[in-house]
Amino acid sequence: MTSLRDKIEKLKDAFRKIGYEEFVKIESAHISGISYINIGDIGLEFIRDIAEEKLKVRTLATCNPACICAEDFDKSIEGAKQREIIELLRKIGVSTWLTCIPYEHMRVRRERYYAWSESSAVAFINSIYDAYTDKLPGPLSLIAAITGEIPKTDIVREEERYPRILIKVYNDRPLNTVESGILGMIIGSKYRGNLEIPYIIFKKYPFKNIEALKNFLAAFATFSNCPLTVIERISINYKKYRERTCTECKLSIDMRDIDRKVREISIISSIKDLDKNSLIILGCPHLSKRSIEAIVSTLGNRYIKASTWLFTSRFNKTSLRSANLKIVYDTCLFVSSYIRFIRSSFEKIYTNSIKQYYYLSKRVKDLEIDVLIAKEIEETLNNVSGTLLLRDV
Ligand code: F3S
Repeated sequence: MTSLRDKIEKLKDAFRKIGYEEFVKIESAHISGISYINIGDIGLEFIRDIAEEKLKVRTLATCNPACICAEDFDKSIEGAKQREIIELLRKIGVSTWLTCIPYEHMRVRRERYYAWSESSAVAFINSIYDAYTDKLPGPLSLIAAITGEIPKTDIVREEERYPRILIKVYNDRPLNTVESGILGMIIGSKYRGNLEIPYIIFKKYPFKNIEALKNFLAAFATFSNCPLTVIERISINYKKYRERTCTECKLSIDMRDIDRKVREISIISSIKDLDKNSLIILGCPHLSKRSIEAIVSTLGNRYIKASTWLFTSRFNKTSLRSANLKIVYDTCLFVSSYIRFIRSSFEKIYTNSIKQYYYLSKRVKDLEIDVLIAKEIEETLNNVSGTLLLRDV
């Protein structure tokens, strides 16, 4: 019979095969690609094989959204398969948090190693907390959770982990959620290389609220292969990185560049003007608890014809209710089976997330998808998400 040690060595071979020999211990793993809609039967079999081998994770391991809220498993054809995936992951020892913002529910430590695979979360913990993780494919983060180690890829090596690109953003005001996503897209599309790490200096305070920061990083990580960007006075260790950044500015972005892109791809509207054929989707990445509560208490009292769905983690459950707002836990629209219902019930989808817009436009061809800047939503988020901490210069 093969020993557990042999089995783990065999798993580490997955990394060796792609050229990595040196390994470091991790604090936690976060596994993406666990929605049955995404991974299908092949992915399910991979997880089943690991569970049947009786392998267990050696560290805290969490996972991304599923294809449906856990309470609705019996309501869809994919539900049974999704339930099996979740039960298998639990058997392996994965904490099935089903959210893409695990960093809001745990302590992430600077300069420690992690094996995370959700790109927006990877960008967040690398860039804000200076945690060290590559953007691993989902199966490799599961393997890393079991071995308790990651290979030392370039981005987690001290000697490679420094900004190569100095970017100055001449903003005249803090950016809202859509503007932030667009900025992430502009920078991510220009510098796509794994080690093209930007160091960004903003003229004014950069983001209006926490959702704007999350949208910026999610968009950046969607368009770039680089999982880290350093933001002056926002990133925890920015001084360490500033010392190693070249002083020659490679890219200047001013508000006109951002405004032009905003006009190209977004609609500025009041939510009162949207009709009942419209669905507004908020929560890519998943909304923080304070944002959810703010939206429900501010917008829930108004008469709105369009439906609004808010996506978040089940740790952000709230007792607040509203007839015209639906809070959806454990899933995200892009990887969910709710899309069938949406197709038969709505003609247009509006989102304030550039990442969501990019992926949904690829998956859903028969519905109109637009990026929406709604004054009411932006004001609500600004009022209650609090200001981001600016660090001492
Ligand atoms: Fe999260 Fe889904 Fe967006 S996993 S970052 S809500 S595409």
